[in-house]
Formats: sequence, structure tokens, C-alpha cells
Amino acid sequence: MVSGSAPASRAELARAKVNLALHITGQRSDGYHLLASLVVFPQIGDRVALQPDEAFKLVLDGPFARDLEGPSNDNLIVKAVKAFAEAASIEIPDVALTLTKRLPVSSGIGGGSTDAATALRLLEDFTEVYLPDDELHALALKLGADVPVCLYSDPQIMRGIGDELEPAPAMPACAMLLVNPKVGVSTPDVFKALAGKTNEALPATPEAFDSLADLTAYLESCRNDMQAAAIGLCPEIGDVLAALQSDERIVLTRMSGSGATCFGLCEKSAAMDIERDLRKAHPEWWIASGPLG
Ligand code: C5P
Repeated sequence: MVSGSAPASRAELARAKVNLALHITGQRSDGYHLLASLVVFPQIGDRVALQPDEAFKLVLDGPFARDLEGPSNDNLIVKAVKAFAEAASIEIPDVALTLTKRLPVSSGIGGGSTDAATALRLLEDFTEVYLPDDELHALALKLGADVPVCLYSDPQIMRGIGDELEPAPAMPACAMLLVNPKVGVSTPDVFKALAGKTNEALPATPEAFDSLADLTAYLESCRNDMQAAAIGLCPEIGDVLAALQSDERIVLTRMSGSGATCFGLCEKSAAMDIERDLRKAHPEWWIASGPLG
């Protein structure tokens, strides 16, 4: 039998999308909000694997798989596969995509968006059909406002409704803690609860962040404009922020996206110890850490 050249299986880390700063600067007539955000992708995420199979299928596993609601056809990965096949004018590829759901769902770190973006990259490599950047970007935007930014793993400045992207300075060597009180927050509900929708723009980023102190100094002049509204809907976010803020090894703490996940920045050497201490104090929370720069 001829062995053929079946492409090998591949797996990728679908990195969490973390908004280090998120300024809401206006609202469009269709209801979508205008924002300006510094977005980073720590080495913390879901896993998406692709394997040739008899027909297309999505397999779900991992600690948060059971929180994915609805039929698997509603999963953003399936929508991404269909949209990709249509845009590339090909049949839906005969592959099994396995999503190992390690990030909490509806948690402000773009879990569904990063899974879909990672699936798109895996499909490009498997089919060897590479859509022009602007087509891939438009396809991603139709799937969700946060999907285009998740096509990248380098820091990005995101503007518009999330569709205008430009590279941000590289992150200094440091680590990030992510903590979620295991309470889901609805993004549209937080948008609705915002006190104001026209806030100050994101300050210009420096050319480089040479150290964690540099990054912290910049971020101290920034905000997450959704944080107060999210705490109003989900007071547990306040508990998470208080726990992170009370740890002297953490130099900056803020909520990501529409919550409830919050992040803490620290030196790389401290991350594992902080993670262990937080787990001991709050066994009911989801806690992860990983390098940033
Ligand atoms: O695009 P996505 O499905 O991720 O957005 C979820 C919801 O968040 C939208 O239906 C909208 O209500 C709100 N949203 C918004 N402005 C944005 C992004 C999302 O109002 N820039």
C-alpha cells in the first residue's frame, strides 16, 4: 500500500486574549462600542488539535468542556471552519478538531475567539490555502469582534470595534497571573451597564517597554472602562482584585475584557509561588500563570 502524504496532526496553544488596558471611547449607531485596547497573549490557553479523519467533526474535552452551551454546531470553531471553506471555495476538510477547553467560558479573555482564530490558522496549514490577510481578517470579524486580534500572538493595539489592529511594543520579560471567580459575566450586559461610553482615549504607547516597571508605569495611566460596571453585576470580581492587590509581589492588577477574569503582573521568578499561594487561599477560583514577554 502506498503510504501517501497524509498531513501530520498538529496542535496549537489557543492563547488567552488579555486586555491590559481597555478604554471605551464611543458607540456606533448599530450599538457596537468603540474601544482602544492594549491586548497581549500570555502562554496560557486552550489547546486546539487537528487530525485527518473520515469526515469533519469537533471533539470537546478538558475541564471547562461541559460549560460550552448548545449544540456543537453553535461552537465558534465550527462556524470558523464553515466560513473558511466557503471563503477558500473548498469542501469542508475531513478533519477532527479537538478543543481542550482549559480557559473558563464567558470570562473576558476571548476563549471562543482564540479557539476560532487558532482553528483558522490550523486549517490554513492543513489545506495549504492561505487567504489574503484582508480576507482572513474580514472572515474573522464576522465571527466576532475579538476574533481578528486573536489571529496574532504578539501584542496588539486594537481600535474601532476591535477590527483596527496595529502592533504594540513587545512586552518586557515578566509573567501574568489570571484569576477567575468561576462566575460567568455576559458581555452585552456589562456594555449596557456602563456609566459612560465616551471616555478618554488610550495614551500613546512608548516605543518600547524596557522593563516591567516601564510597562507598569504606562498601564497606571490606563484603565479598563468596563471594570466598575462588571463589579456591579458580579461583586466576586472585587474579591479577586482585592486578593491580587494585597500580594506585594504583584505590581499591577486589573480586570480583562468584560470580566470576570482579572490579571496580575509580576516578575517571572515569582509567578509559580504566587499561583500556589492563591490556590491555597482560594481553592474555589480558577487560577493560572504563564510568561508574558
Ligand atoms: O462580537 P462579539 O460576539 O464578541 O460581541 C459580543 C457582544 O458584545 C456584541 O453582541 C455586542 O453586544 C457587544 N460588543 C459591543 N462592542 C464591541 C464588541 C462587542 O457592544 N466593540
